[in-house]
Parts: sequence; structure tokens; C-alpha cells
Amino acid sequence: MPRYLPNKTAVRGAFAVAYLLAVVPAPAADPDAVARGAYLAGAAGCDRCHTDSDHGGKPYAGGRPLATPFGTIPTPNITPDPATGIGRWNMADFARAMRWGIAPDDSHYVPAFPFPFYNRLTDGDLADLKAFLDSLPAVSRSDLKGAGSTALLARAQAALAVVATAFPGPWQPDPEKDQLSNRGGYLVATVGRCGDCHTPRNRLGAPDPDHFLSGGMRVPNITPDPQSGIGSWTEEDIIGVLTDGHTPDFDFVGGAMAEIVKNTARLTDEDRRAIAVYLQSLPAKPSQEKK
Ligand code: HEC
Ligand code: HEC
Repeated sequence: MPRYLPNKTAVRGAFAVAYLLAVVPAPAADPDAVARGAYLAGAAGCDRCHTDSDHGGKPYAGGRPLATPFGTIPTPNITPDPATGIGRWNMADFARAMRWGIAPDDSHYVPAFPFPFYNRLTDGDLADLKAFLDSLPAVSRSDLKGAGSTALLARAQAALAVVATAFPGPWQPDPEKDQLSNRGGYLVATVGRCGDCHTPRNRLGAPDPDHFLSGGMRVPNITPDPQSGIGSWTEEDIIGVLTDGHTPDFDFVGGAMAEIVKNTARLTDEDRRAIAVYLQSLPAKPSQEKK
């Protein structure tokens, strides 16, 4: 390489680059990853639990009081605020929380945070969710800093149910089923967390895999069982309930399901169809509980 003194243009160019590096924030995350993460977050309703909408709370800034079997706890701020949100978390911290329910201080979250379902998200989807959360405006919630003592006590009490829960890791497609049905299975198992309510719990409080989606306490059976399940529903009937909550008998679902419909309403038509196709492909199971 010939050694020469840089000319004025080159110097100006170098300064311009240095200047740009100093003033322009770190390159924004891949916009496609952010968009995919936003879709998943919408489908999961992360915003519903993590926004105190009754008190004008900012999106994802937490503080919604959430009733759990272990007491009422405020949801945490999951905006990228470094002090009161998760702005200092790296991907490993995020994956540990989402997939295994373990906080950076090593305590175990209450399963009111549906991490046993997010356990089954693929690595790619977890990374997209993080890219999306990182793209949000940081909101400072000094009133919420850290898990309060109620949350820590609740975490201790929830530990048994968490230990009894199966954590199989990322969801695997069933080679016997087609792509659409597998997409539905993935959505049901992860962001849809249908088993959170529709699968009865065992004595330790964990969803019982032997009675997958066959109905819980005051929650209907959504397997194709003709008597106690939705065996008489067509694909369009299931899509209808997931679109706006209407059922084939001209009623609307209420309670906890009305909240879930707000999330499934955000899915694409294709994804709602995938869920319907998957539910219809399940083995019919009679209900364990009386409706
Ligand atoms: C049904 C309500 C609910 C939904 C839906 C939900 N969360 Fe949460 N989340 C919680 C609760 C409650 C906690 C706190 C649990 C605890 O303190 O033990 C929590 C904790 C967290 C934490 C740990 C934060 C911290 O500061 O320790 C992260 C990260 C998180 N949620 C991300 C998400 C994401 C991403 C989604 C959507 C994919 C989501 N959550 C959906 C209720 C929910
Ligand atoms: C937070 C708890 C909860 C979750 C999660 C949940 N559901 Fe529901 N679901 C309910 C309840 C409660 C009802 C009964 C509502 C009513 O009768 O008004 C219901 C009703 C239904 C019905 C109507 C069944 C019938 O016989 O009338 C279908 C279909 C359904 N859910 C599908 C799903 C699917 C698919 C998912 C996952 C994407 C899901 N649910 C997630 C609580 C839940």
C-alpha cells in the first residue's frame, strides 16, 4: 500500500463518518423482525396484561393489577427503560424469563405470566419478540421498580405448580400433519395458550397433558368430542368465534374468552383457519368436569 497523506476530501469524509456514528443511534433492529415480533405480541396479548389501561397506563409499561391464585400482583414494565423496565436485559435474560420463567434474580415467576406456553416458542420467534419490545418507547415506572414483596411471596407459593409443569422446549411440528394444521398447533401451544384454561389442571395445579383441551372448571371442552366438546362445530364456526366471539348458536363467548378473542381477532384469516383445522384434528376427549 502506498503511504500518502490523506487529501482534504478524505479527511472531511472521515469526519463526516465519525460524526454520523456519534449522533445517529445504534442501527435500528431489522424492521422485519420488529414487525414479526409485533404480530406475535398482538396475538399473545402481551400488551393486555402489561398495560394498566384502566388507569391510563402507557402500552407495555406494566402496573395492571393481575389477580392470580397466589394473590394480586402488578404486571412488570416490559418497555426498554433501563432502570424500571427491561432495557438492560440481553437476549439470554429474555429467553430465560420467557422460556423457563426465571427472573434475573433467579426467582421463579408466577405462571400468571404464561411462560409455560412461551416455553414452546421457537428461538426465532423469541428473538423477534425481543426486537419488537426493544423498539418500543422506554417508559419509566419508578413506582413499579422491581418485584414487590407480594410478587416474591406469590412466586414462592407458585413454585410447586411450576415444578409440576412440563417444559418440553420449542414446539415440534407433527410430521403426520400438514403445514396448516401444524401452524395451528404452534399457535395454540404458544401465543394462544389455549391450554391455560381449556386443559384441566392436576392436583399440583399444572395443566394435565392427558386431558389436553378437554375443558377445565367452567371452561368448555374444545376437542372434537361430539357430546361434551365441539365435535358438531364446522371449521367456519371455530373461525367465527376466534374472529369476533360469536358462536354457532347465535351467542357470544364471555368472560375470560372474550379477552382472548381480542387477541385472536388480531390474527390473519389464515392463522385463525390454521387453529380451526388443528382443533378439528385433535383426538376427541370427553370432559372431566361438569360444564
Ligand atoms: C395473562 C397475562 C400476561 C400475558 C398475556 C403476558 N404476561 Fe408477561 N408477565 C405477566 C405477569 C403477571 C408477570 C410477572 C410475574 C411475576 O412477577 O412473578 C410477567 C412478567 C413478564 C416478564 C418479566 C419482567 C421482569 O421485569 O421480570 C417479561 C419479560 C414478560 N412478562 C414478557 C411478556 C411478553 C413478551 C408477553 C407476550 C408474548 C407477555 N409477557 C404476556 C403477565 C402476562
Ligand atoms: C384465559 C382463559 C382462556 C383461554 C386462554 C382460552 N379460552 Fe377459550 N374459552 C374460555 C372460557 C371461559 C370459555 C367459555 C366462554 C363462555 O361460555 O362465555 C371459552 C370458550 C371457548 C370456545 C367456545 C366453546 C363452546 O363450547 O362454546 C372456543 C371454541 C374456545 N374457547 C377456543 C379457544 C381457543 C382456540 C383458545 C386459544 C387460542 C382459547 N379458547 C383460549 C377461556 C379461555
